[in-house]
Amino acid sequence: MILRQLRDGAADAQAVDDLAGAAFGHLHRSHPAPPGRPAPAVQRLARVRHLARTDPRGCWVAERDGAVLGAALSLRREGVWILALFAVAPEAQGQGVGRLLLERTAAYGRGCLRGMLCASPAPAAAVHYRRAGLTLHPAMTLSGTVDRAGLLDPGDIPVHPGNAGHRHLLDSVDRRVRGAAHGPDHDFMLGHYDELLIADSLAGSGYCYRDGGAVKLLAATSKRIAGRLLREALARVPDGRRAQVEFLTAEQEWAVDIGLEVGLTLGTRGYVALRGMRPPMPYIPSGGFL
Ligand SMILES: CC(C)(COP(=O)(O)OP(=O)(O)OC[C@H]1O[C@@H](n2cnc3c(N)ncnc32)[C@H](O)[C@@H]1OP(=O)(O)O)[C@@H](O)C(=O)NCCC(=O)NCCS
Repeated sequence: MILRQLRDGAADAQAVDDLAGAAFGHLHRSHPAPPGRPAPAVQRLARVRHLARTDPRGCWVAERDGAVLGAALSLRREGVWILALFAVAPEAQGQGVGRLLLERTAAYGRGCLRGMLCASPAPAAAVHYRRAGLTLHPAMTLSGTVDRAGLLDPGDIPVHPGNAGHRHLLDSVDRRVRGAAHGPDHDFMLGHYDELLIADSLAGSGYCYRDGGAVKLLAATSKRIAGRLLREALARVPDGRRAQVEFLTAEQEWAVDIGLEVGLTLGTRGYVALRGMRPPMPYIPSGGFL
């Protein structure tokens, strides 16, 4: 078996996607997830290639006889190391492949005082993250059909669609709330998610990405702004689609309360794993970019 850097090409993207599909499919059989639509293949493949371009030295695959059997993809953003994907093919699990891959990607994060990742409920993953010095914050999920009657909002804080012209605002909010901007990841999210919502008023600022029923990422300078954005995002989930909000630690009770008000079901799943930092708040991390 060899470890090599991920290449920015269709073949590697497909190989990583196939193996992630097999690894997470296997996991879902032992730890069922709330029903929800997976991201479209074109989006998943584009994300792998995006990371291969932005952080080639942080993205590694394990290969045996020409077949990719494991991958660990990480990125660095302004002093934060982020693990975006970690998976080993089911038939190769438990043989130390994950440990070797994680060591390689963690080396890319050396020098970053802070680290973040959204962890699955896999016990083998939690073992690795604790060994790497990350603190595990158990996470909640909200899912179900939005009860629109519960969405009444005074609307005193205007929310409007955003675009690449809001980049400065997005970066400012991220630096305040999580200590690092998302940088080029906004290009990806703007290009692939359904919409970006912006709140920017004298009371504070914030933003939220929504894609189908999923609230992908939300950051704001106050709970009031965050709550306004979350309600707006949930109001915009298309009829007939299930809403889904993931990776809510106890710090995000403001979001849990809104979800319960609008009839979503609360569950627990996975962890937000952090090193050198407390959970950002108010903040809903993106599983793929944190
Ligand atoms: C998480 C994952 C990448 C680990 O890869 P792997 O190649 O199986 O990992 P390794 O063989 O290097 O190590 C697994 C370790 O976890 C331990 N482990 C496995 N299951 C365990 C359990 N139920 N309880 C405690 N420890 C467990 C193993 O004993 C091993 O420890 P060791 O290093 O002391 O031997 C792999 O299991 C996977 O793809 N899971 C599904 C996808 C997933 O959840 N990815 C993580 C996303 S955050």
